[in-house]
Amino acid sequence: MGNTLNIGLFGFGVVGQGIYQVINRATNAHARIKRICVRNINKPRAIEPAPGLLTDSADDILTDPEIDLIVEVVDDASASYSIVTSAIRRGIPVVSGSKAMIARHLPELIALQHEFNTALLYDASSCGSIPVIRNLEEYYDNDLLLEVKGILNGSSNYILSRVFDHGEPYDEALARAQKLGFAESDPSFDIEGYDSLFKLIIITVHALGVYVNPEDVFTYGISSISDHDIRYAREKRMKIKLVAQVVKVAPDRFTMFVMPEFVSPSKYIYSVDDEYNGVVIRGECYDRQFMFGKGAGSLPTASSILSDVMARRHGYRYEYKKMDYMELPVYDTDVLLKIYLRFADRDLPSRLPFANITEMYSSETYNYVIGEIRLADLISCRALLSGPEVFVANIPRFFLDKD
Ligand code: HSE
Repeated sequence: MGNTLNIGLFGFGVVGQGIYQVINRATNAHARIKRICVRNINKPRAIEPAPGLLTDSADDILTDPEIDLIVEVVDDASASYSIVTSAIRRGIPVVSGSKAMIARHLPELIALQHEFNTALLYDASSCGSIPVIRNLEEYYDNDLLLEVKGILNGSSNYILSRVFDHGEPYDEALARAQKLGFAESDPSFDIEGYDSLFKLIIITVHALGVYVNPEDVFTYGISSISDHDIRYAREKRMKIKLVAQVVKVAPDRFTMFVMPEFVSPSKYIYSVDDEYNGVVIRGECYDRQFMFGKGAGSLPTASSILSDVMARRHGYRYEYKKMDYMELPVYDTDVLLKIYLRFADRDLPSRLPFANITEMYSSETYNYVIGEIRLADLISCRALLSGPEVFVANIPRFFLDKD
């Protein structure tokens, strides 16, 4: 590597353009974007790169011996997988923001990094500008970690904030999140909880050293939230937030899920609004710590990419040390959750194996129950909980005595 770091950039959408701006602005990085690979060179763009930078051939970057590092922010998980694995196989380090691809392929990507002795960094994949991955990897390297929980998706949080605090209709808030560049090209990833899930999968690898297949995790979004749910939360002086969490339920067991949650004003995440993300890290000896920042958007995400680029300049790589620990906690869904269930079909509660029901309300237009149910049963009954007539929200029960 010469004095100047030559970067090959894949993807020039909202985040790619932010990276171009940030790298050009960061004079101390001594880095330059040598080539940018896009699908369509002729597409009009808000920011036009310098002449000669754009190419539509991946090989122009992958086979260029002057390229020191690849930055990959492509909005297509299979293209991203192909770019990242090709680069690693050639021994080229990669910085990526592709959470869906990383979450689905992390075990293989870890093995490839070892085999080809190069690095893949991806702090930008989780919580935009908040340095959550490197912190979990480096600082929380002990048995004390009890929980990582938070708002990991900027778009859904933006929508909920607009709906709760500004009384805006849901659809308008979603359209605005798309216009502002927070939402995924398919916004159902944001609002159905999958974007949060992918980030949670990555976080869990760096928090606990365990990879869990995304398909094994209960994931429920905010698309069916209604005025009834919002009014119910307001009456209780709470907000509803889309929360992802990984929680140790015993020294040798942890659970994880993504779902809307009733959040009381005493919680840090109560005040996390708009496109901001907030992550609470709980440990045995330090109670709660809180990280807060912009979780979506062009420049916030680009700032995280720049941080990984600079870390790579100093030879940084994830060591995944926790994955080699002798006793890793085991993923467990045999845990009791307390949920709020709103429904139209009056038979629904009896078709779900509630351990108990503590509250029930029924009228012509609004029915709900509150009760305890095993997470494993929520997973197996997931199909019954789909559609606009049903909404589920978690009522937190872990660590309540420790707040
Ligand atoms: N769509 C994502 C979000 C972008 O809203 O959080 C950042 O990962």
